[in-house]
Amino acid sequence: MAMAKDPMSNEFEFENDLGCDMMCGSYEAIDKKNISDKSMIKKRYMYLTEEILKQKPNLCAYMAPSLNDRQDIAVVEVPKLGEQAATQAIKQWGQPKSKITHLVFSTSCGVDMPAADYHLTKLLGLHPSVKRFVMYQHGCYAGGSVLRLAKDLAENNKGARVLVVCSEISSVVSFHGPDETNIDSLVGRALFGDGAAAIIVGSDPLLGVEKPLFEIASVSQTIVPDSEGALDGHLREAGLMFHISDKIPRLVSNNIENILVEVFQPFNIMDWNSIFWVVHPGGPAILDQVEEKLALEPDKLRATRRVLREYGNMWGASVLFILNEMRQCSGAYGLRTTGEGLEWGVLLGIGPGLTIETVVLRGVSI
Ligand SMILES: CC(C)(COP(=O)(O)OP(=O)(O)OC[C@H]1O[C@@H](n2cnc3c(N)ncnc32)[C@H](O)[C@@H]1OP(=O)(O)O)[C@@H](O)C(=O)NCCC(=O)NCCS
Repeated sequence: MAMAKDPMSNEFEFENDLGCDMMCGSYEAIDKKNISDKSMIKKRYMYLTEEILKQKPNLCAYMAPSLNDRQDIAVVEVPKLGEQAATQAIKQWGQPKSKITHLVFSTSCGVDMPAADYHLTKLLGLHPSVKRFVMYQHGCYAGGSVLRLAKDLAENNKGARVLVVCSEISSVVSFHGPDETNIDSLVGRALFGDGAAAIIVGSDPLLGVEKPLFEIASVSQTIVPDSEGALDGHLREAGLMFHISDKIPRLVSNNIENILVEVFQPFNIMDWNSIFWVVHPGGPAILDQVEEKLALEPDKLRATRRVLREYGNMWGASVLFILNEMRQCSGAYGLRTTGEGLEWGVLLGIGPGLTIETVVLRGVSI
C-alpha cells in the first residue's frame, strides 16, 4: 500500500530481514557471555573466526602490523556483505533492479580504488551508468548521512530510485588484542559487531505497486560543541585504532535537547514522548543518559535496545536495523503506523567528531 505523496518529503522502502537472516547465514554468532554483561549485548555477528585469528596472529596483537591482512579481507567482503543486504531489499521492493538510478554506498571498513560502490554495482549487475556515491569513514553517524544524501537525490531527480547500502565489517578492521594502557580498545571490543543493511529511497511512489515504509521529512547534521577528540579513529599499520572517550554519553545527552528543539520547531513538536525513537546504539550508557535527560518513557528506546542486544553496535548499519525492527513490530502488534503507531519520529546517527545526524521521520499507515 502506497501513501499519498507529500511534496516536501521522501518516502522510502527498506528491507532488512536482510541484516538478520543474511548475517546469520554468513557469519559466526558469538555468544557474549565472556564479555562484560554491562554492554547489554547478548549476541553479535563477526566475520573473524578463531581459525582466521590463528592464521593471522598479528590481528590479535594490540599494535602489530596487520593492515595488509585487514585490507585483503575488507576490500572483498564489504561489498559482498552489502550485496546480500541489497539483494533482499530489492526483492522486498519488488521492482526490477534496472529501475535503480543511484547507488549510495557507505562503509568505514577498507579503503580501495575502485571503491566498494563499484564492486557492488558489478556484483548486483546494476546498469553501468547507475550514478554512484561512496561515503567513507562516517563511522557511527553514517546511517543518518546516507538518508540525508538519498533524500536530496530523490527529491532533485524525478523518478529516481536510490539504493542505499551500509556495510560494516568492523571486526576485520578494528579488532585488536587488549592493552593495559588503552581501555578504549576494550570498549570497542565489547560493543562492535558486523552487519549490513539496505533500503531504497524515492520521492514519488507508484501507487499500488510500491509500499512505502517511512517518510523522511527533514535531515540535518551538526558537530557537538566542545566535543573535539571525543571519538576518532586513525588508520595505522595495525588497523583502525579508536579513541573512545568516556565523556561521549554526557556530551550527547547534554546537547540532544538543543538539537531536537531546532529540528522539530518547524513541525511544532516539543513533547519527546509523543514521537518514535531510533537512536544509534553506540553503547548502553549513551541510551541511558539520553533517556534520563529527556525523561523518555522506558519503551521509547525498545527497538533501539533490542538491536543493541541482538547485534551490537554495527556502526552505520545499526539505525537501519532499528527501523526494520520497529516497522515489523508495529505491524505484528496491529498498530496504526510503522512508527509504533505514531506519526512523527526521530533517527539519530552519532559518530566521530562528535557528529550527530538528525532525521525527522513520519510513520506510514499500515
Ligand atoms: C562501555 C560501557 C558499556 C561500560 O559500561 P559499564 O560497565 O556499566 O561501566 P561505566 O560506564 O560505569 O564505566 C565503568 C568504568 O569504565 C570507565 N570507562 C567507561 N567508558 C570508558 C572509555 N570510553 N574510556 C575509558 N574508560 C571508560 C568508566 O570511567 C568507569 O571507570 P571507574 O570504574 O574508574 O569509575 C558504557 O560505559 C558505555 O556504553 N559507554 C559508551 C560507549 C561509547 O561511547 N560508544 C560510542 C562508540 S560509537
